[in-house]
Amino acid sequence: MVENARLDTKLVSVDPLNPSLREMQLAANLIRQGEVIAFPTETVYGLGADATNTFAVRKIFEAKNRPQDNPIIVHVASIDQAQKCVTEFPPLAKRLAERFWPGPLTFVLPRSEYISSEVTKNLDTVAIRMPAHKVALLLIEQSGVPIAAPSANLSGKPSPTKAIHVIQDLNGRIPLVLDGGSTLVGVESTVISLVHDPPILLRPGGITLEELRSVISDIVVPPDFSSDQPISPGMKYKHYSPETKLVVILDGHDKSPREIDSIGRAQGGQPLVLCTNSQHQHDLMSILVGKNPQEIQANFFASLRILDEASYDVGIFEGITFEGVGLAVMNRALKAAHEIV
Ligand code: TXA
Ligand code: MG
Repeated sequence: MVENARLDTKLVSVDPLNPSLREMQLAANLIRQGEVIAFPTETVYGLGADATNTFAVRKIFEAKNRPQDNPIIVHVASIDQAQKCVTEFPPLAKRLAERFWPGPLTFVLPRSEYISSEVTKNLDTVAIRMPAHKVALLLIEQSGVPIAAPSANLSGKPSPTKAIHVIQDLNGRIPLVLDGGSTLVGVESTVISLVHDPPILLRPGGITLEELRSVISDIVVPPDFSSDQPISPGMKYKHYSPETKLVVILDGHDKSPREIDSIGRAQGGQPLVLCTNSQHQHDLMSILVGKNPQEIQANFFASLRILDEASYDVGIFEGITFEGVGLAVMNRALKAAHEIV
């Protein structure tokens, strides 16, 4: 078998608030030449290519070992550009865009021929968002094309919230990583289908359900995203997982540290508690993921990577409420979990 040639991956620092035009032009040239590069957004780092270039989009799937049937989100820098990607941009999309774009909300709409079918796979829809990040927006503007970008991790790994996470996963596989520091939101965008009436929540994310409901009175929330459902450990496919076994304690944030510690000890081996309650004092080794829901959301994926690097036998995540930003955090936590208690 012939090994894929390894690329020399450049890591270039960019000012997230005021990126230099010259640097962004160099990055945009790579996009125009059909290359795949990693760049920061407000949610997580993206692995971007020209969404109108089939060969370029194929390289995204290769670089991150993405399953071939998983369609990719298209990133735009203007409403005009979004409208070119779809056959219909309904009034509801306009209202949502006015309120939440640029920002972590992705719409699924009927696709136009402008976007490569390699992005949308066999679907007649396309997922689109306008990221709230200067680097991402300038990259799209300078490239002159919409940019297809999944999260810039190897498939199955936690999403990258720092450039170093991208390097850990993709060094040698892509020519360039733009380092704009830590991403602010820390979980991926909320995805909603606007080809359904009422709209359907496809993935909870950076825009909360409560925020969405302030604009859309009616939105269908599939039962998997609700806390009232019995959650059975064997019943889910894994995603975003650390290598280390991860145990998620439902409502762990409100349980006593003693209870958490005894669950940790029962696991055997060396546990690390991923603590979400700054009042908790554990006997076991622990790290504080964040002092409030926003911080927990921002640091969640990075804490899974810390768990793997620190070589503990098991991680114990103190689950938080499913309200507000908790819905997205718990969705990721339960997907990553090997066991839920
Ligand atoms: O915040 C984000 O959304 C990040 C940054 C880089 O923008 N991107 C991201 O992409 O999370 P990815 O590929 O990891 O997740 C895309 C999600 C997947 O769940 C995919 O199935 C869904 O969007 N998706 C994409 N196109 C779709 C379509 N046409 N219909 C339904 N779902 C779609
Ligand atoms: Mg992803």
